[in-house]
Amino acid sequence: PRTPLIDPFERAITYLRVSVTDRCDFRCNYCMAEHMTFLPKAEILTLEEIDRIASAFVERGVRKLRLTGGEPLVRRNIMSLIGTLSRHLGTGDLEELTLTTNGSQLQRFAQQLADCGVRRINVSLDTLDAQKFKEITRWGDLNKVLAGIDAALAAGLRVKINTVALKGVNEDEVDDLIRWAHGRGMDLTFIETMPMGEIEADRTDQYLPLSLLRASLARHWTMSDIAYKTGGPARYVEVAETGGRIGFITPMTHNFCESCNRVRLTCTGTLFMCLGQEDAADLRAAVRASESDDLLHRAIDEAISRKPKGHDFIIDRRSKRPSVGRHMSVTGG
Ligand code: GTP
Ligand code: 5AD
Ligand code: SF4
Repeated sequence: PRTPLIDPFERAITYLRVSVTDRCDFRCNYCMAEHMTFLPKAEILTLEEIDRIASAFVERGVRKLRLTGGEPLVRRNIMSLIGTLSRHLGTGDLEELTLTTNGSQLQRFAQQLADCGVRRINVSLDTLDAQKFKEITRWGDLNKVLAGIDAALAAGLRVKINTVALKGVNEDEVDDLIRWAHGRGMDLTFIETMPMGEIEADRTDQYLPLSLLRASLARHWTMSDIAYKTGGPARYVEVAETGGRIGFITPMTHNFCESCNRVRLTCTGTLFMCLGQEDAADLRAAVRASESDDLLHRAIDEAISRKPKGHDFIIDRRSKRPSVGRHMSVTGG
């Protein structure tokens, strides 16, 4: 058997995030520029290559696989990949196969996801106001996303809502979002915006520290810290009034890198060892060079041995440039 993946800081790598496409049918203004250049097809891993790399990680002790994008459900034949990856759920080697989606395609795919053994998905939704939704996502249609979320719930999937906290944009809606999500039995996670990739908007204007948000939530809601763990970076509270959970993802105000358990594969087979660093490893070369997986495992070992301690994101008026040049959509967060 192959050895488990332990990084230089004694962190076990048990969570692989796989961006299956850099494309998206939305253009969220904190995530992408209006005009994006996407990768040519020859650069993109085939579904078989993605399966091979992800399976190599499962062999090395990865217990949680999350497909991301761009928007994962716009990748052609995505369900066939999810279908083949789900064999690892059957053997018990994999505990969770899941995805993070913008919800636009869920009406079509929710039932098939459930049939493949997906139990839980995360849906990005920053506002319940149709006009605002249009402004934020530029291309998105709120009603389609809401119908998609309903379809997911109807298919028996557990849904977590991800909301990027945006100053002056959705701050006034957080109570509504809590009531709405918890009323449907969904967890709600707030995220601090991270300075990745060139966008038109000014991140200093958008950035809302969750310490502030949490303090203002405490005026209306009785929140207690709970030890709920998903393997992701959120810290959760339970809300007495609703019985639901709120998660806080605070890369800026409360760094959680110390307990990092994850690495990220892009759709071109580049492995990023940290969301907030540029250093990466080329796993595509390793899969394309040989039919045997030995090279691939060696490349994975070499990459993990270089996993950095953490990110050094900065958002302030003086540093207009993003800390990391690539967009969030390259690694899907
Ligand atoms: P759960 O399994 O539900 O805990 O999901 P998750 O938080 O692991 O994944 P999701 O795709 O929902 O990510 C939510 C947000 O957390 C995204 O904005 C990610 O960019 C961010 N995130 C996830 N992992 C990391 C990380 O290691 N570092 C940083 N800085 N952000 C992360
Ligand atoms: N900072 C924080 N979160 C972001 N997302 C996209 N771009 C950013 C950013 N710059 C979020 C999406 C989605 C998740 C994968 O990442 O809204 O919920
Ligand atoms: Fe697409 Fe998600 Fe980025 Fe929005 S945040 S543009 S939905 S990848």
